[in-house]
Amino acid sequence: MNPPFRPFFFLVLATFMFTWFALIVLPWINLGHLAPIKEEGTPGITPWDSSGSAHQGEKVYASNGCAYCHTQQVRPASSGADIIRGWGTATDDGDPKKEVTRRTYPRDYIWQHQVFLGTSRAGADLTNVAHRFPTAAGLYRYLYDPYVLNGHSSMPAYRFLFTMQKVRGLPSDDALVLVPADMPPAGWEIVPTAEAKSLVAYLLSLNKGYHLPDENGPVPRPSKS
Ligand code: HEC
Repeated sequence: MNPPFRPFFFLVLATFMFTWFALIVLPWINLGHLAPIKEEGTPGITPWDSSGSAHQGEKVYASNGCAYCHTQQVRPASSGADIIRGWGTATDDGDPKKEVTRRTYPRDYIWQHQVFLGTSRAGADLTNVAHRFPTAAGLYRYLYDPYVLNGHSSMPAYRFLFTMQKVRGLPSDDALVLVPADMPPAGWEIVPTAEAKSLVAYLLSLNKGYHLPDENGPVPRPSKS
């Protein structure tokens, strides 16, 4: 190599090595060992993996750019207003009448194929959206027409995730119950497509209604034996 280029080459190499270490190796050392926690006295583990349909919905969520406006990362009370705004509140997995309120921890994300930390909080954090929208019908209606709840909303309507069809016999079980302005002509109904169904299955799986030992401080690494 031409001697004047040598320092330049090593500088570029060092820059790449440093970034690789900081972005890949360090997070892997710190987070790569995270595993679910075994629940005492039960065969269960927390967190657990969600259903196949919700996994499909994860892809619909990614391809429709929901993460551009929605985060899935509840910050601790000292770093933002997420907890005060109710974004850290979930329905307790053990008792639907109770609530669990907390920030999120890296362990919460271990089953996720694609982690949607998000880029901006234009809309609500969706970590626990199933607590605020516990039914598929409510979510379908919202995705079809977000302006019903807030006329000035900047949330786009995802009407292409629905289809209009003729009612044959009885109306379909999942036909949308809409406000008069959105209703289709008589004899027709609006139903969710397969994409909308999996997206809503995914949204309904978003509820961190369990506690983690991480809430009490750093958890020791599992021993190798
Ligand atoms: C351009 C930004 C934007 C995009 C993209 C977007 N949203 Fe929203 N969303 C918002 C805003 C803003 C709100 C708050 C609604 C309001 O203005 O009242 C919201 C609210 C919501 C809510 C209600 C949350 C709550 O607790 O009140 C849900 C559910 C939701 N969005 C789901 C989605 C899904 C699913 C997608 C992708 C298919 C999506 N959003 C894409 C901006 C966006």
